[in-house]
Amino acid sequence: MSTKHFLSLLDFSSDELRALMHHAIDVKTRLKSAVAHTPLTGKVLAMIFEKSSTRTRVSFESGMSQLGGHAMFLSPRDIQLGRGEPLEDSARVISSMVDGIMIRTFGHDRLEKLSAASSVPVINGLTDTLHPCQLLADMQTWFEVRGDIKGATVTWVGDGNNMCHSYINAAKQFEFNLNIACPENYQPDIDIVANAKECVTVFSNTAEAAKDSDLIVTDVWASMGQEEEQKERKNAFSAFQVNTDVMNQADNDALFMHCLPAHRGEEVAADVIDGKQSVVWQEAENRLHAQKALLEFLIAGKI
Ligand code: CP
Ligand code: NVA
Repeated sequence: MSTKHFLSLLDFSSDELRALMHHAIDVKTRLKSAVAHTPLTGKVLAMIFEKSSTRTRVSFESGMSQLGGHAMFLSPRDIQLGRGEPLEDSARVISSMVDGIMIRTFGHDRLEKLSAASSVPVINGLTDTLHPCQLLADMQTWFEVRGDIKGATVTWVGDGNNMCHSYINAAKQFEFNLNIACPENYQPDIDIVANAKECVTVFSNTAEAAKDSDLIVTDVWASMGQEEEQKERKNAFSAFQVNTDVMNQADNDALFMHCLPAHRGEEVAADVIDGKQSVVWQEAENRLHAQKALLEFLIAGKI
């Protein structure tokens, strides 16, 4: 049987994703009740970070420990990958010694190359194209607060980036409607949109997109690797800030999410992210619980 990886939300079925959500909530309850749950005793996760991280690193590392295993942080500065050892050779060697690999990298093709050469499950910890682990946490948060997201209306405001692409995949898998408000030159990938066209509508006006939405989501205007475009992006995105005017267009009890890190006063106003509709802290914490469910599913092979 071929190795199961998690490069995209589209790698799992809708039923598998829903089962993961329920297991994540269960795993969280056990942790809060101090009930040990160690299905990964003796297992090791290698974590390769070619970009910075707070949440992804801490959640995978804590998660593996809590599940009875161990996580190993590998910086390209310290391993031979950073000195030009081919990704395929690195994958072959590392996967012969560990039970899973998580990688945060730039081009999605690097992740695909690594997974093709790995004999153990590979997890996408963010690429320029997708950030599926964040969506597990976002969906878990919605499930906890509101129940199943099927049929809800979600509005994405801002860049058509890795997070936006993952929301498009989530809309398809979890069957919700996704409105996307973004500047003309920063629209999401057309193939990713086309694959979910029945659930996605692209707008150029934030207020129109946010109308009657159940959830408003945004992310930074310049992602990791786009630091040089910061100034130009600040101008292009000035009409795409989530502020109280935007929240007022949405349903009265709409939620607000942001994967973090956030820039208050840029993509989101401080009174929104720190306001009562915001669930960003629960969302961030759920990275831990959702990924523990994911690790158990991929490494132990069942949940
Ligand atoms: N949301 C997220 O992935 O955060 P980090 O970059 O801190 O891992
Ligand atoms: N779009 C952002 C997400 C960070 C978690 C980035 O890629 O930098």
